[in-house]
Amino acid sequence: MKKFTCVQDIGDLRTAVAEALAVKRDRFARTELGRNRTLLMLFFNSSLRTRLSTQKAAMNLGMNVMVLDVNQGAWKLETERGVVMDGDRPEHLLEAIPVMGCYCDVIGIRSFARFESKEEDYGERILEQFIRYSGRPVFSMEAATRHPLQSFADLITIEEHKRTERPKVVLTWAPHPKALPQAVPNSFAEWMNAADYELVITHPEGYELDPQFVGCARVEYDQRRAFEGADFIYAKNWAAYRDPHYGEVLSKDRAWTVDAGKMALTNDAYFMHCLPVRRNMIVTDEVIEGPRSLVIPEAANREIAAQVVLGRLLEGL
Ligand code: CP
Repeated sequence: MKKFTCVQDIGDLRTAVAEALAVKRDRFARTELGRNRTLLMLFFNSSLRTRLSTQKAAMNLGMNVMVLDVNQGAWKLETERGVVMDGDRPEHLLEAIPVMGCYCDVIGIRSFARFESKEEDYGERILEQFIRYSGRPVFSMEAATRHPLQSFADLITIEEHKRTERPKVVLTWAPHPKALPQAVPNSFAEWMNAADYELVITHPEGYELDPQFVGCARVEYDQRRAFEGADFIYAKNWAAYRDPHYGEVLSKDRAWTVDAGKMALTNDAYFMHCLPVRRNMIVTDEVIEGPRSLVIPEAANREIAAQVVLGRLLEGL
């Protein structure tokens, strides 16, 4: 594998999940694969899970790991080509990328949507420049439009807990005080569609996602109706996608918070969220602390997902 930015890069999902479960049985079986190989993890945005789980996965494979927080300790990077660099950004990404490529074998990038321009965000300008100019295999640690490591971990978690071959999975919008990118819901929908689960997406009107990610999912504006018979409830907030409201918060309606009453409408569904989560905005304490909450196993599977991806990138060197 030469890059990992979307579901297509991982190939057959059954094979990928089987590989993940094998890694889970013995995560130290391939400590020679990454020997004398270096992973550079580059963060333009904050992280807890992605940072720790990916670093742990790399160490399981015997890799050396370097972590750079671009906004803390590195030169501020200019990302626009053609600008006169007379401002507060002393280094251009076009030099910084190949330089960073000199010091490592594999590069992971976290770079969120900025909500300044939909074209720029959905063109994945930062990620694409790393793929083009670094000379190294690049993987996404959450980019502007997708979070494939999270979605892979979500898929593994559902496969471990599902009670039917084709479970009903509901992606529900939930309220949040700030504007959040669409990367997690986009990616989740992309992976659930690829897995051929029954996918229902529920949100207030105005929060429609990019149709390329919605695919064949059913969109339901009545959250309670969407929850009926669900096997998995996946909660997430996102800001508006459609113009002219791209990147805006249109609602903070706590009638959309996931609570025990709504969970009672489901087929004894499991609750999922990628974390970090705003309690009693997205989900009540009772649900997230309850016996059907999968948020911790889901986070634990981030290490497994990252190890499969890193293993394949190392095999491709
Ligand atoms: N779910 C997730 O990506 O968590 P972090 O933002 O903490 O990495």
